Amino acid sequence: MAEYSAYHRRSVEQPQEFWAEKAALIDWHRPFDRVLDAGRKPFAAWFPGGLTNLCHNAVDRHLATRGAQPALVWESTEVDRSRSYSYAELHQEVQRMAAILLRHGVGQGDRVLIYMPMIPEAVFAMLACVRIGAIHSVVFGGFAALSLATRIDDATPKMVISSDAGSRAGRVVPYKPLLDEAIERATHKPGHVLMVDRGLQPFTPLPGRDLDYAAERAAVGDREVPCAWVEATHPSYILYTSGTTGRPKGVQRDTGGYAVALATSMRDIFCGSPGGTYFCTSDIGWVVGHSYIVYGPLIHGMTTVLYEGTPVRPDAGILWRLAEKHRAQVMFSSPTAVRVLKRFDTAFMRERDLSSLERLFLAGEPLDEPTASWIAEALGKPVVDNYWQTETGWPILGIPAGVQALEPKPGSPGVAMPGYKVGILDELSGEPVPPGQKGVLAIEWPLPPGCMQTVWGDDKRFVDTYWSTFATRQVYSTFDWGVADERGYVTILGRTDDVINVAGHRLGTREIEESISSHAAVAEVAVVGAADELKGQQAVAFVVPRDATRAASAEARAELAAQIMQTVQAQLGAVARPARVLFVSMLPKTRSGKLLRRSIQALCEQRAPGDLTTLEDPTALEQIRGALVSQP
Ligand code: PRX
Repeated sequence: MAEYSAYHRRSVEQPQEFWAEKAALIDWHRPFDRVLDAGRKPFAAWFPGGLTNLCHNAVDRHLATRGAQPALVWESTEVDRSRSYSYAELHQEVQRMAAILLRHGVGQGDRVLIYMPMIPEAVFAMLACVRIGAIHSVVFGGFAALSLATRIDDATPKMVISSDAGSRAGRVVPYKPLLDEAIERATHKPGHVLMVDRGLQPFTPLPGRDLDYAAERAAVGDREVPCAWVEATHPSYILYTSGTTGRPKGVQRDTGGYAVALATSMRDIFCGSPGGTYFCTSDIGWVVGHSYIVYGPLIHGMTTVLYEGTPVRPDAGILWRLAEKHRAQVMFSSPTAVRVLKRFDTAFMRERDLSSLERLFLAGEPLDEPTASWIAEALGKPVVDNYWQTETGWPILGIPAGVQALEPKPGSPGVAMPGYKVGILDELSGEPVPPGQKGVLAIEWPLPPGCMQTVWGDDKRFVDTYWSTFATRQVYSTFDWGVADERGYVTILGRTDDVINVAGHRLGTREIEESISSHAAVAEVAVVGAADELKGQQAVAFVVPRDATRAASAEARAELAAQIMQTVQAQLGAVARPARVLFVSMLPKTRSGKLLRRSIQALCEQRAPGDLTTLEDPTALEQIRGALVSQP
């Protein structure tokens, strides 16, 4: 391990030298003055003074050498279509989209909200924004009107780019009505909504506000739109993520540091070759999609596959057929997707020629050992767990195969990646705990390039949320529990806060609780994440109805539960809908009124409820236990 140890040590002990070298992996219009501005701890400004552009590095830079190479390949098993765009064609489409933005007054620093299914125009939109220095905020298509409205009000976009509909497992999922409702609810009103009409769901455009993409695209023709050279520290995007409160945080990413970090990760972690194919099955609405469907592979000159569909339609062999067809070198998916595939025959993989594939990366949630070994054996390829967050933008823990092929350790995503000074700290004292002992996974200042700059519009919240966990030291808290071994391999042991992870989707229990509370029949509610064999976790809601008769019979309970699930689905989206809604007449709380979530969660998972010395009324826990057994 000596080789990587030395490499990593240099990255954290001499970050200026280390990252100055890595900065040469991208193009700069003007060199930076300094590598790191340490003047405003815990903020870190990477490459101040430098001018660059994310779109230039992802697209234009490759035109001379890779103009004819496929840059973006779209495969949709939802509408049975595929399209391929060379770097030259992508360049042209991105310029057209950029011209549309400019012609409607979107300029540098303006926000553009992208609420779109997995279609090429979504990628054009992201790249077009960063091309002109506008800041995109992609909202996952599975989110509904309230989630969207909150984000519209926080990001205050000048324009929204959307589509008539997506499609999920063959069913049309309308986007436009949810967007219209969201804009209706929001205080901020975007000037324009650019609609990509796929012809899936008829809609009536709102005159004066809604623009038709096809008509706009024809109108701008082949107008050239040069890249706007922006400061390395200029925000490239905002991506909302859930935390402890009901209000999602806008993770703000820079430009130069992000490009350098992604370029570094493509070599050190993903071992992708320029000209090779990267196939990531995530969604552009999540951070994995931002970094490893769009920016990372393109910055590295690879072909990226954008897949609209599920892993099991038309059958469980689809991912591997696509991998074979496009000669995928690197694949990236989630443990849940693999657990879904595990129900099917391994022949789906064995029948395909996957000789081009080098590694399968999995992230977003804990990877259990049986799932990891099943897929590794079925594929006959290394399966690489990696751990990170929306906040960091690229892996914190992993296997640095591009530097040294360290042996993976089952159950652990690996060791600290370059630039991350990871510590496992005692929850109370903030002191590092010895190997083998559980603590909070923290990162010492500075977070490496590519990590969040701040919370959009709220520097104080950035400091208060992430850098104020310990009284004794100012470190970044991941809000994950971890345990390290003697060699530095870290195992993740779940969240320290109220965030849950359903099928790799990060959700805040508070947000779900607020949504459920909006139902008139609900007096009180507690939502916890309970272990689920397939999805990792599932949301379980315990509801105290205002009127006990609403939960007096099995029929009444079923009706109210269905209404509550529908409320969450309509407000937040199907991803957030609780799997179970159970009824009780009181919730377990401490004498000071704090919900005992960890105890409730423990009971859901048939574990002992833990320390109950502060519990006000023990019968409340009995009710939880009873509801779990007696209510379906
Ligand atoms: O709890 C950790 C879990 O997912 C959280 C971050 O989710 P998100 O912001 O959506 O970013 C996902 C980027 C891959 C983390 O705080 N998590 C992520 N990866 C892993 C993981 N837990 C265990 N093992 C992982 N590999």
